Amino acid sequence: MNRLENIQKLAEKYSLKSYQTGYVLQVEQEVGFLGKSVLEVGGSLPREFVFEALEVKSWTAIEYIQYYIDAGFEYPGAEVSITFDEIKNGAIPREYEVINGKIEDLPYHLFSNFDLVFSVAALQNLHAVPAATEKIFQSLKLGGCYCALAAPVWSCYNGHLFNTKKSPTGKEYDYHENCPVPPWGHLLMRPPQMYDHLCRTIDFDTAAAITYEIYNSSRINRFFLEDYLNFLKISPFSQGHFRPMPPMSIPEDIQTKLEGLYPGYQNFSSQGFSFTLLRDRE
Ligand SMILES: C[S@@+](CC[C@H](N)C(=O)[O-])C[C@H]1O[C@@H](n2cnc3c(N)ncnc32)[C@H](O)[C@@H]1O
Repeated sequence: MNRLENIQKLAEKYSLKSYQTGYVLQVEQEVGFLGKSVLEVGGSLPREFVFEALEVKSWTAIEYIQYYIDAGFEYPGAEVSITFDEIKNGAIPREYEVINGKIEDLPYHLFSNFDLVFSVAALQNLHAVPAATEKIFQSLKLGGCYCALAAPVWSCYNGHLFNTKKSPTGKEYDYHENCPVPPWGHLLMRPPQMYDHLCRTIDFDTAAAITYEIYNSSRINRFFLEDYLNFLKISPFSQGHFRPMPPMSIPEDIQTKLEGLYPGYQNFSSQGFSFTLLRDRE
C-alpha cells in the first residue's frame, strides 16, 4: 500500500469527513506532511491520524470554541489542552496541542515556528481574515507553506450556510437539501425581501430565524470569493496559487443581475477555493 492509500485508509479508520480526507490528500501531494511541525487553523484533526497517517513531527490546532457556542453546536474537536495566556507565560506546546483562541490573536511566542499551516472548511467562518493572514505568515518558518480550503463562501448559490431550523409543525429546513432560499437568493434579496419571501411558505417565527441567521449571525463572514483573493494580494504572501473551485452553472440572467448589484465582482459560480502560499521572506 502506498502512502496516499495508507492515509486514505487511516482517514476512514479515524472518521475524517470526506472533504477533510480529500483536502489532506491534496496537501500531501502538493507539499507533504511527513516530519513537519503543523499549525491547523479552525479545526483539530485527530491525534492518532496526524501521527500515524501523516507522520508529522508536531500538530498544534487552533479551535475557537465560542464559534460552536454561538452556533448552538456541540464542539466536535479534540480536547483543548493549552491557552494562549499559558503560552505567553512561557508554556511550550507539546507535540499535539489544541488551543482555544482566535488565530488573529496568535502570540508572537509561536512566530517562525511551523513548516506548514493547514486549514479546511474554516476561513468562511473567520471574520478577521487580513489579521489572521498576517499572523499565519508570521507563524511560518521561512520556506513554510500555508494551505487552505474554504467552502461554501458567501458569493456562491448557497453561501448563506444557515443552520438547520425546525418549524412548529416539525418540518426541517437547511441550507442544502430542504432549502427555502432560492439559489443566489441571499445575494439578490435584501433582508426584508427575504423575510417576505420566506413568509409565503413558512411560519413567521421560522422565517424570521432563517432571515436573521442568513444576514446577521456571527457564524460566517460574508466575504465574496474575490475578496479572499484581494486580501491575499495585499498580504505579506507574494508567492503561491489561488484556485477557485470548478464553476457551477449559473443562469445568465442571475449572473447579469449579480454583476449589476455588486460592481467589480464576477465569480458567483465557484462554491469556494483552495490556495497554497509560500513564506518566501522574513
Ligand atoms: C465549520 S467549522 C470547521 C471545522 C473543521 N475544520 C472541519 O473540517 O469540520 C469552522 C471552524 O472555524 C473555527 N474558527 C472560527 N473563527 C475562528 C478564528 N477566529 N480563529 C480560529 N478558528 C476559528 C471554529 O472554531 C471552527 O472550528
